[in-house]
Amino acid sequence: MKQETKGNVLPACRVINLPKLSDPRGNLSFVEGENHVPFTIKRVFYLYDVPVGGNRGGHALKQCHQLLIACSGSFRVTLTDGCERREVHLSRPDQGLLIPPLIWREMDDFSSGAVCLVLASAKYDAADYYREYPDYLTARKAAAS
Ligand code: TYD
Repeated sequence: MKQETKGNVLPACRVINLPKLSDPRGNLSFVEGENHVPFTIKRVFYLYDVPVGGNRGGHALKQCHQLLIACSGSFRVTLTDGCERREVHLSRPDQGLLIPPLIWREMDDFSSGAVCLVLASAKYDAADYYREYPDYLTARKAAAS
């Protein structure tokens, strides 16, 4: 992946600790929109049964904010703003990775049985996606200038 643009937005991608209530029956974590995440939650989706060696993501969103949680198992998220690149390994159901708009993300290294829960600030809209990295870089350059 070429690193071609100026800008430093990756710090806005951060791992947040979620509440965790533990008792003899097990653990419970929760997420409240506009409290634990800085957006109203309008959509929930989840990735599961990802084959060993499989990849997901490979896109950036124009407007949508997301929180990714490894509800079960683990996986790696590679983030770039076209300038910097960062890898985050998610493996804890009581943590989430906040990804603001205009961040290219790729996901791989899914463990067997991994479940990636995604809380999103918008309903699905195919027009909100950059699915080609060169298109994304062009948009990022425009946003950084
Ligand atoms: P895709 O964005 O390729 O998945 P990922 O980036 O997580 O690997 O989505 C796969 C298909 O699912 C694609 O046809 C769009 C559709 N889809 C919805 O209809 N609603 C949704 O909320 C999402 C995330 C995807």
